[in-house]
Amino acid sequence: MKLIASLQTILNRQAEHERFASASYLALAHWCSDQEYNGFARFFHSQAEEETEHMLKLQSHLLDREAKPVLEAMPAPVNEFSNLTAAAEHALELERENTLGIETAYAAANEANDYAAQALLQWFITEQVEEEAWATKMVTLCKRAECSGAIYNLDRHINKELAEEG
Ligand SMILES: [Fe+2]
Ligand SMILES: [Fe+2]
Repeated sequence: MKLIASLQTILNRQAEHERFASASYLALAHWCSDQEYNGFARFFHSQAEEETEHMLKLQSHLLDREAKPVLEAMPAPVNEFSNLTAAAEHALELERENTLGIETAYAAANEANDYAAQALLQWFITEQVEEEAWATKMVTLCKRAECSGAIYNLDRHINKELAEEG
């Protein structure tokens, strides 16, 4: 089932979004490690791996449908954050942007009556609900932790806190 060219471009673009998200989470993980927020670093490392899986899922779909994935030049991810809340807000922003990308791709798949691409993207639509949920929760928890003791405690427990959503 060969993909039409316009959908091929859009799915490739989404695979590139996921690759950028992976690089962004890696940058977040390194910033956290550097600041000794080791719990957050661990969480962001697992997100970086997840985003790479998402990229591969889209690229395998392209390959299965006689379309070669193309890796392009990528902008540098954000490497510096003013504090932990700003880092969490950046993660939420990344997820919201990714949701928009998925929705654009899904609309194009509908337009093209491409049922296989629709089914693939439906998985991503559900996934984005979870992704935005943990990111929103992370922002709330970071904002609530105002003193250094509370931040220390949050960092120790963040993986458990976000376990259901992450
Ligand atoms: Fe993703
Ligand atoms: Fe994500």
